[in-house]
Amino acid sequence: MAKKIHNEPSRTLMEYRLLPGLTTERSASSEISLRTPLVYSPENDKKYFLNIPLVSAAMQSVSGARMGIELARLGGAAFIFCSQTIASQAEMIAEIKNYKAGFVQPQTMRPEMKISEMYEMRKQTGHSTFPVVDKNNKFLGLISKWDYDISLHAELLVKDRMISKQQIEIGVNITDLSQANQILLESHKSVLPIVDEDGKLLSMIFRKDITDQTDNPLEIHDEKKRLIAVAAINTHDYKERVKALVKVGVDVLSIDTSDGYTQYQSDAIKWINRNYPEIPVIGGNIITPSGFRYLVDAGAKAIKVGMGGGSICITQEQKGTGRGLATTIIDVVAERDKYYKKTGIYIPVIADGGVTSTKDVTIALALGADYVMMGRYFARMDESPTNKIVVNNRVMKPYWGEGSARAQEWKLKRYNQGKFVEGVEGLVEYAGHLRDNLEETLAKIKSSMSTCGVQNIREFHEKAELELVSALSIREGKAHDIYQGSEKDQEEFNNEN
Ligand code: IMP
Repeated sequence: MAKKIHNEPSRTLMEYRLLPGLTTERSASSEISLRTPLVYSPENDKKYFLNIPLVSAAMQSVSGARMGIELARLGGAAFIFCSQTIASQAEMIAEIKNYKAGFVQPQTMRPEMKISEMYEMRKQTGHSTFPVVDKNNKFLGLISKWDYDISLHAELLVKDRMISKQQIEIGVNITDLSQANQILLESHKSVLPIVDEDGKLLSMIFRKDITDQTDNPLEIHDEKKRLIAVAAINTHDYKERVKALVKVGVDVLSIDTSDGYTQYQSDAIKWINRNYPEIPVIGGNIITPSGFRYLVDAGAKAIKVGMGGGSICITQEQKGTGRGLATTIIDVVAERDKYYKKTGIYIPVIADGGVTSTKDVTIALALGADYVMMGRYFARMDESPTNKIVVNNRVMKPYWGEGSARAQEWKLKRYNQGKFVEGVEGLVEYAGHLRDNLEETLAKIKSSMSTCGVQNIREFHEKAELELVSALSIREGKAHDIYQGSEKDQEEFNNEN
């Protein structure tokens, strides 16, 4: 006989709806703050806050340096994936920490490259101007889409068509952005390459970015005004990995395991707290109050919850383990609140896996989560590390689980892990720029909070009223009994009328 059988089914976020509270002037959308703690920190350090309650998942197809930079600039954070070599992950963290608004580290081209090859790369990245450098990274010139015509020049080399450095305005060792912008604005050009005293390329400034540079009031940074960087780690090579990540300035670590209720994880947290007490560690994933207590007692400063719900996840099918995310949040948050009452230590809870829409984010926050991690949502955007592809006239981006065969290839080589897969690989519909998507998502979250009459996430936790809904009610909550134009709609309309 099993020790315990829970006969009430666990619930997903989709099964709850919010009831309105009294909306007043103080809870108007424009007054709402989405600021939320990233990890517990004793002095309420401003460094460990997010300005929006969203982080991107530690996955190869989601969170590289570009996502890390753009999301931190918009108030969230990307958890940089650890299923890569220590050196390449450290390089990504360094890129985030060394980022200076406006100074772009661009993809470079070699002079001997064929125009046709360059054209293919351009199609994948969507960029129109590239710097050309030699093997020592010395700046040679620029090549942009106006410098060649693919029907005429495909067989020529980049050096045959590039604009050489003698014809270009160049900044030497400029670190002050307003000075660089001023030179660019005076130059009649769209781009300003910045080189060091030996002529090696350091960065580029683009005219199109100038207005964007001052426009990030929610940006999260450390006391030196560098962006906050969060890195995932595993329980295998953490001693070596943490050392390298700390060296390049990582701010927060997150242990990335599908089942975090393990002695390995407790050992890793304790080791990091002993050796790097200034770096907070996020533990997870767990789905029970006992898992929460175990990791918090080991020294975790935030806890990630969720198992089996991710859009690419087949853990429930493969192993029979998992739990609906709503029930998980309710159970773990109750334990967190108990712990807070007893100790005064507030441990943020992160909802992770299967959060597919903005309403799911809102429900997770209302149930007590402090922020939400998403993979699929961010994988669809320009800032994820994958290239766009066109399938049946639809623009798509690849997305694969960290437990899929594709991601496990790396782990298998290194740790001899991965006897079976826990994730799948597929495509998601391309969704455009992160900034535009976030604008809409955040507006919806604020609007729901306004309807509930709350001004911030803490108040949301205290005042939200939720209700379980029936399957019929969920159906009723969608557009129905109306012909909206597609053949499928027409068919449904005919069947029902
Ligand atoms: P999504 O937002 O629904 O796409 O879920 C993303 C989350 O799924 C990640 O943050 C992980 O917690 C989890 N995850 C990532 N890869 C896998 C996998 O291969 N199998 C199971 N879960 C995964």
